[in-house]
Amino acid sequence: MEHVFDYLVIGSGIAGLSFALRGARQGSVAVVTKKDKLETNTNYAQGGIASVLGPDDSFQLHIRDTLIAGDGLCHEDVVDLVVRSGPERIMELMNLGTPFNRGVDEESPFDLGREGGHSRNRIVHAQDATGKAVERVLIAAAEAHPNIQIFENHLVLDLIIAHQSIKAGSVAIRHQDECCGAYILDISRQEIRHFLARATLLCTGGAGKVYLYTSNPDVATGDGLAIAYRAGARLANLEFVQFHPTCLYHPHAKNFLISEAVRGEGGRLLDKRGRAFMEDYHPMKDLAFRDIVARAIDTEMKKTGDDCVFLDITHRDDDFLKQRFPNIYQKCLSLGIDITRDPIPVVPAAHYMCGGILTDILGQTSIENLYAVGECACTGLHGANRLASNSLLEAMVFAHQAAHHCAARLEDRRMREFPEIPICFGTPANNGAIMQSEMILISHNWDIMRRLMWNYVGIVRTDKRLTLARMHMAQIRLEIREHLPNIPLNSDLVELQNLAQVAELIICCAIKRKESRGLHFNLDHPGKDDANWRRDTIVSRKDVVDLLCSIPGRE
Ligand code: SIN
Repeated sequence: MEHVFDYLVIGSGIAGLSFALRGARQGSVAVVTKKDKLETNTNYAQGGIASVLGPDDSFQLHIRDTLIAGDGLCHEDVVDLVVRSGPERIMELMNLGTPFNRGVDEESPFDLGREGGHSRNRIVHAQDATGKAVERVLIAAAEAHPNIQIFENHLVLDLIIAHQSIKAGSVAIRHQDECCGAYILDISRQEIRHFLARATLLCTGGAGKVYLYTSNPDVATGDGLAIAYRAGARLANLEFVQFHPTCLYHPHAKNFLISEAVRGEGGRLLDKRGRAFMEDYHPMKDLAFRDIVARAIDTEMKKTGDDCVFLDITHRDDDFLKQRFPNIYQKCLSLGIDITRDPIPVVPAAHYMCGGILTDILGQTSIENLYAVGECACTGLHGANRLASNSLLEAMVFAHQAAHHCAARLEDRRMREFPEIPICFGTPANNGAIMQSEMILISHNWDIMRRLMWNYVGIVRTDKRLTLARMHMAQIRLEIREHLPNIPLNSDLVELQNLAQVAELIICCAIKRKESRGLHFNLDHPGKDDANWRRDTIVSRKDVVDLLCSIPGRE
């Protein structure tokens, strides 16, 4: 079945919906999402959105903090754009009805929180569930718009790419790939649909599920990264995986984050014996940059052999804690932890991909008519380490950039015909039914890959572990390639393939970077090497093929 839209938006988080609302002013928009429309990374963002809104703050200070966090790899023009656009984008969300916590007077219109690495209070928030508040407001606006159609339970399989020859007269002077939409599995009907579009936007979020422990929801399987890579796009900086220092450590708490805002309100990290250890690691103590705090916790846990550390906020007033952190308070209480009395057991977990699909300042990828926005993109804002709460801001600013660029080209695009669409996919599973024995192949590979990434490509890396990871990953990919193609198409299989692709790309980037910078810490190259490595790590299909061909047994 074929659908034609002006814009195809893949992902229903803040990036996709912000773009859709702008795009719908000129054209028709399809928003596709593989699960429920609210099941996005945005929905789980607790802390908030960083922006210069306080009387003691300035653009220069926010720019400086972002650059320090990024450790030499931020693109300064992008940082400047994002920071300066912040207040306008926040006001748009306010005008749509987002219930941000308000400040005390006109000079301080918002209650601004503090997170690691920020030199001022600048986090606009809706209590401790900012993402949920933003997501609901944007979904309501998108659903009310006559030009926007939302397709739930639609999983993107691959992009539709047309290969064009650019000619001067009758001579082809170069070849260019152009994105014309995507092949999409309608999961409920078990039917593959062709969505044709004049511009396609990838905003599929992150890939936290590539690691055993993550703060991310189950949907974070790196789909956008994998499909962009397969289509031939350039990706960058995938070695910079941000580990959030404080995820709840409890057997029944799956992926639950304890927001950095808790440390912003005075929470301190303690070891099992009650010793505050962050002063041993950085003058900013518990509010140091995330890479420093996560590595400090990792070091303490290795030193003591303890399974977790503790985050203590019990010195703050009970009513304040219940009011400021209602979500965290309730979740912990449901597991028998009263945060007003008990220190919270926490561990680091994979949280955010600072790298992604390489884009320019307009959100354009290296493929014509393909844009990437949000966590799946690498715009140059985060560099080697993202400053806390800069990501929702980046998503809004780049959605705005991409929408403007698309709007200016839309009429021109409408004049052109779509090419013939090749049929690329086999039969989906009959009613999603796959045999149990086949499911075991999928879940086994899924488990070993996530454990491998956690143990060998985690917070602290070495050359040996990375080489071993590359070898084991090659085996896993081989098993997927040799034994899984006969399984009928289904979401678990597609997600496994995507995750495996992303894992391989993370390893590839981590092996390439022979230094330690920001979130990439390699004990065999502990220093920064500005002369050789003050640059992005760029990968495309060809680089990875070269690297993998050096493994014995790989063609
Ligand atoms: C948090 O609330 O700690 C997460 C905020 C972020 O990742 O920017």
